[in-house]
Amino acid sequence: RKLLHQQLAGERIIVVSNREPYIHSKKDGEIQVHRPASGLVTAVEPVMRACSGTWVAHGGGSADRETVDSHDRVRVPPNSQEYNLRRIWLTKEEEEGYYYGFANEGLWPLCHIAHVRPIFRTSDWREYVRINQRFADAVVKESDSENPVVLVQDYHFALLPEMIRRALPKATIITFWHIPWPNPESFGICPWREELLKGMLGSTILGFHTPYHCKNFLETVDRYLETRIEHESSTISRRGQLTMVESYPISIQWPPPWQGTLPPVEQTRYEMLAALGLPAGHLLGIGVDRMDYTKGILERFTAVERMLELHPELVGHFTLIQIAAPSRSALEEYQSFEARVHALAERINRRFSREGCQAIILKAEHHEPEEVNRYYRSAQVCMVTSLHDGMNLVAKEFVAARDDEQGVLVLSQFTGAAHELHESLIVNPYHVEQTAEALHQALTMPEYEQQERMRSMRAMVRDFNVYRWAGRMLLDAARIRQRERLAVRIG
Ligand code: F6P
Repeated sequence: RKLLHQQLAGERIIVVSNREPYIHSKKDGEIQVHRPASGLVTAVEPVMRACSGTWVAHGGGSADRETVDSHDRVRVPPNSQEYNLRRIWLTKEEEEGYYYGFANEGLWPLCHIAHVRPIFRTSDWREYVRINQRFADAVVKESDSENPVVLVQDYHFALLPEMIRRALPKATIITFWHIPWPNPESFGICPWREELLKGMLGSTILGFHTPYHCKNFLETVDRYLETRIEHESSTISRRGQLTMVESYPISIQWPPPWQGTLPPVEQTRYEMLAALGLPAGHLLGIGVDRMDYTKGILERFTAVERMLELHPELVGHFTLIQIAAPSRSALEEYQSFEARVHALAERINRRFSREGCQAIILKAEHHEPEEVNRYYRSAQVCMVTSLHDGMNLVAKEFVAARDDEQGVLVLSQFTGAAHELHESLIVNPYHVEQTAEALHQALTMPEYEQQERMRSMRAMVRDFNVYRWAGRMLLDAARIRQRERLAVRIG
């Protein structure tokens, strides 16, 4: 937090993302607030509370309009009111084209390469351009200086940096891409690849989770645009605009907000097992995801099935609890994925459930962070088996939740987190036997080994927390701003 304040020196930041950090809805005439299932929000919200400023986002909650002032702003978090949330309203058609269409049927599968074919419709692209412009205009309006610090978040806004740059040439624009960046061949099938790249190159700094994604991006630009690339400094120069491309692995808040306030793990587990009607000593696994085909939920269930085939002594003694928050459910691909997840869980349960004990408990509904934390603290193992993931903050949240230094993380090698959490059991989720064996190894691991692994992972998450993620980007931005200021003076 100190590093953040030093870098900002009193300056307020503007964050732009599609998803808002607080969603207002109405139940029985009462306005309620929810926090969405979103890695982006998990990471950026504590930074925003530390820095203050304005967060511009789509107002998607059914009661969002009832809470804003005449400038479409509301102070959040609801209890402490530390920064402004400026909401942008979208019609159903706009949301369909920009969010569901181009962002989530086009760019999402394009960047994840999880073997779902991207769909590119010209009408969706047009909405994407229009909505990017709408957000850019809002940023310019919210800015109270000619050189604000703007943090653009994610693939919903590839065009925003250039649009903001046109209106505010001196702005410091830090763009962070929260999902993987594919190789040039894969990215090249997008009909608007040049426009997207040009848009992103309006940024001062362009951040990805891993050096590998940075390399893919540099190669993509090299393939499709006329630019000068300096590999040593990892910068791209195009028409007088310099963009630094760098990896900034995202993380979570440390210390966790609940630190020191929770009952011991033993007690939480005891209460959890009782609530689930399971006997003491029953083994629990936990999976926490949005209901998304990139998360490897089917592969995870298949690995549980295989583990129970290979180790029948665990049948009736192990349950995987899978939390799957509803996500993008207006899209057919997501609907059919959800149906497959339910069907597979039912089939495995028919085979392996024993009286009063299911092999898989599927909770396909939204859970607030406090509830998720109770599951993390009750489980012997957390399974993160994404087929491809920029970072995956569930892995880091599980580690942060385990102040008892116990519990094992089974982690997909295709997540950014696998580049940092080396003491997890790293698996290829497409390899069922390997994942099943890793799950068994986790369930039978001696306590001293769990402790050794968990200690190192906790040190990693503590030292490379989300304040450092944001602080490093702002430090790089401050250096660039100083260089620009001094260059102007000499000239
Ligand atoms: O992983 C990319 C991402 O945008 C995250 O940053 C966020 O957690 C998640 O997708 C949420 O998706 P949506 O906003 O569509 O619910």
